[in-house]
Amino acid sequence: MGEVREKRRIVLVPVPAQGHVTPIMQLGKALYSKGFSITVVLTQYNRVSSSKEFSDFHFLTIPGSLTESDLKNLGPFRFLVKLNQICEASFKQCICQLLEEQGDDIACVVYDEYMYFSQTAVKEFQLPSVLFSTTSATAFVCRSVLASVNAETFLTDMKDPEVSDKVFPGLDPLRYKDLPTSAFGPLESILKVYSETVNIRTASAVIINSTNCLESSSLAWLQKELQVPVYPIGPLHIAAAAPSSLLEEDRSCIEWLNKQKLGSVIYISLGSLALMETKDVLEMAWGLSNSNQPFLWVIRPGSIPASEWIESLPEEFSRLVSERGYIVKWAPQMEVLRHPAVGAFWSHCGWNSTLESIGEGVPMICRPYTGDQKVNARYLERVWRIGVQLEGELGKGTVERAVERLILDEEGAEMRKRAIDLKEKLEASVRSGGSSCSSLENFVNSLKMKNS
Ligand code: UDX
Repeated sequence: MGEVREKRRIVLVPVPAQGHVTPIMQLGKALYSKGFSITVVLTQYNRVSSSKEFSDFHFLTIPGSLTESDLKNLGPFRFLVKLNQICEASFKQCICQLLEEQGDDIACVVYDEYMYFSQTAVKEFQLPSVLFSTTSATAFVCRSVLASVNAETFLTDMKDPEVSDKVFPGLDPLRYKDLPTSAFGPLESILKVYSETVNIRTASAVIINSTNCLESSSLAWLQKELQVPVYPIGPLHIAAAAPSSLLEEDRSCIEWLNKQKLGSVIYISLGSLALMETKDVLEMAWGLSNSNQPFLWVIRPGSIPASEWIESLPEEFSRLVSERGYIVKWAPQMEVLRHPAVGAFWSHCGWNSTLESIGEGVPMICRPYTGDQKVNARYLERVWRIGVQLEGELGKGTVERAVERLILDEEGAEMRKRAIDLKEKLEASVRSGGSSCSSLENFVNSLKMKNS
């Protein structure tokens, strides 16, 4: 095994953000277990977990030239466009060094779909390359559809409230307003990034962190439209769990959970990017407090504008959360979701959080902020029927009612049953003989064939 590992290398190219780093490192772990050596190519804007899980991986950093003010002001989409411009040449050089100086046999380059600069190098060196999507298959379908719409007509449609509530043709149950468009920049630049990401060009395959039991029709659509093999090998957090948190986890919340009643706690976390308005934070605090249920709330430093953490919130906030709430800056999310005291997950519906919640059979209160989160929220409510979506202005009454529906009402118990049923299906899909496990094996075999 040692000799085989030495020779065949897979190069991973992650986006510098927690929600992207986590699944690609899990993928690396899954591929490492199949005998490949793993090289992770980082830009100087990445951080990766220093977890000893990855001590056998090889890390390389390519230089970039973004200034501090670029990093602060660009916003995620324009940052990605710039990153792709500035990293193309240095990535090519990096691959050249691996091939020529170190004599590596690169089995393939797996790049996050947003790191499309990788395509120039793989083309030049004629390497197999694989696009890795960290979002759901359905969000990928949406991006493919959006990449070909007329931007001007679409923008006009989106501004019309009557249209925005309608189901988008061919994407039922998604409405115009559920499509992954808003925030993070003007629609034009988002559509431009989408047309780059779904243009798979040099990629000879696509890997998706999803599975048939969740998204069979979207996966079938991709398989037909993309005309390259699509490998749904998720959920990776079950198939190849690997701690990859970039922030320090506050484990004191587990002790707090240990003291709470079974299925009584609402766990609230909005992922690594979402920002909250102060007025929404207060409505949430009121609603949660009025619900009389205990709650564990992750408030990430910097997630409330103009505040380091929670110090700028009015005194009323501390009063509302002091009795039944427990606030942390970052939690060991998987462990929290697995804890028997947790009854529901209030989430922004990032794809990792969605998979992690389903993977533990926990129903969700869905409050998406942007991008693919809206797609996931709609699916959680309408397709998998394990979530309640809070739409429009956030009010304390709506928050209180949502908590009651999930924790106290029969409706919540039904959702939990469906979530547990899905959890079992997810676990089966990554076990030997399951669809995701077979898909991973097929992918590995395809590399062997290419390289033989
Ligand atoms: C974003 C998008 O929302 C997501 O859909 C896309 O696929 C990747 O980029 P993010 O907003 O950070 O990611 O959300 P999510 O995908 O849910 O990832 C957050 C990760 O951080 C999860 O793996 C979660 O377990 C972890 N986390 C979050 C913690 O470990 N502790 C916390 O306190 C909060």
